[in-house]
Amino acid sequence: MIDLGLPHVHSGKVRDIYAVDDDRLLMVTSDRISAFDVVMEEPIPHKGRVLTAMSAFWFEQLADVVPGHLLSTDLADLPASVQKVAAEADLAGRVMLTRRAEMLPVECIVRGYITGSAWKEYSRHGTVHGAPMPTGLRESDRLPEPVFTPSTKAEAGGHDENITFDAAADLLGRPLAEKVRDVSLELYRRGADWARERGILVADTKFEMGLIDGELVLCDEVLTPDSSRFWPADAWRPGETPPSFDKQPVRDYLDGLGWDRTPPPPPLPEEVVRATSERYVEAYERITGRSFAGWPGVDG
Ligand SMILES: Nc1ncnc2c1ncn2[C@@H]1O[C@H](COP(=O)(O)OP(=O)(O)OP(=O)(O)O)[C@@H](O)[C@H]1O
Ligand SMILES: [Mg+2]
Repeated sequence: MIDLGLPHVHSGKVRDIYAVDDDRLLMVTSDRISAFDVVMEEPIPHKGRVLTAMSAFWFEQLADVVPGHLLSTDLADLPASVQKVAAEADLAGRVMLTRRAEMLPVECIVRGYITGSAWKEYSRHGTVHGAPMPTGLRESDRLPEPVFTPSTKAEAGGHDENITFDAAADLLGRPLAEKVRDVSLELYRRGADWARERGILVADTKFEMGLIDGELVLCDEVLTPDSSRFWPADAWRPGETPPSFDKQPVRDYLDGLGWDRTPPPPPLPEEVVRATSERYVEAYERITGRSFAGWPGVDG
């Protein structure tokens, strides 16, 4: 964490959040990477900038579905007192100045493909999030329709818990829960269609939303490899677990070691770090069609 002269609000595995004032937050995305829920020692060069640039792209792209919290990714828009130390701390290109929202107490997960915990549930019960699914689906199959599978937000260290739509409606009120569900499904459809045409499948993703002056606003990060499962479309084979577009070099390396997935993590060799970094940049360039070299701080 960096001393920016701003109150520190929160740190997750990857991001540090500061309060700019009552209405605005500063979200700083580091190059930290986690695998199997453990943060590695080695930063992945460019990862924080890729995540920031990708979220910014999606906020722009999806603004007609729901307004976003993002105000700016430009250091020049930060309070003057913060700009110098932010630049010195190499934060160019990895900051989001956002509006501060009253966050809804649910994570808005949408699944387009059956994998992970949803595949486990389906194999045992034939359901996804309690809803019956057609028989004969294979692991990683595309679902007939994307499904909204909300969960509660876990306290630090805990695990998110799936909740039914009715439970979400109890938490949010039914009209808001319906709106959140419809917006989540539309965001997923738009994003996943866009990415699929560019060779990346978004298997599932998590959105977070909040209220600002009573208006529903898309918050947090959007359709990034950290909030989603990205698969290379050309390596997708129903019946198998597809490789992760971004983290596969790290996972393959760790699998080869037989590491027990508890801290401390083993050190990552330079080639693994480099290959992973290249995957993030490739995901950004494929999805946005933009050159990453043009993003702030990349050639700094
Ligand atoms: N516009 C916003 N206003 C207020 N809070 C926000 C806004 N956007 C995102 N948040 C909150 O900021 C926090 C981001 O935390 P972050 O994702 O870095 O860590 P985490 O969710 O605690 O852990 P993890 O590293 O596992 O994701 C979340 O609690 C999220 O709900
Ligand atoms: Mg989070």
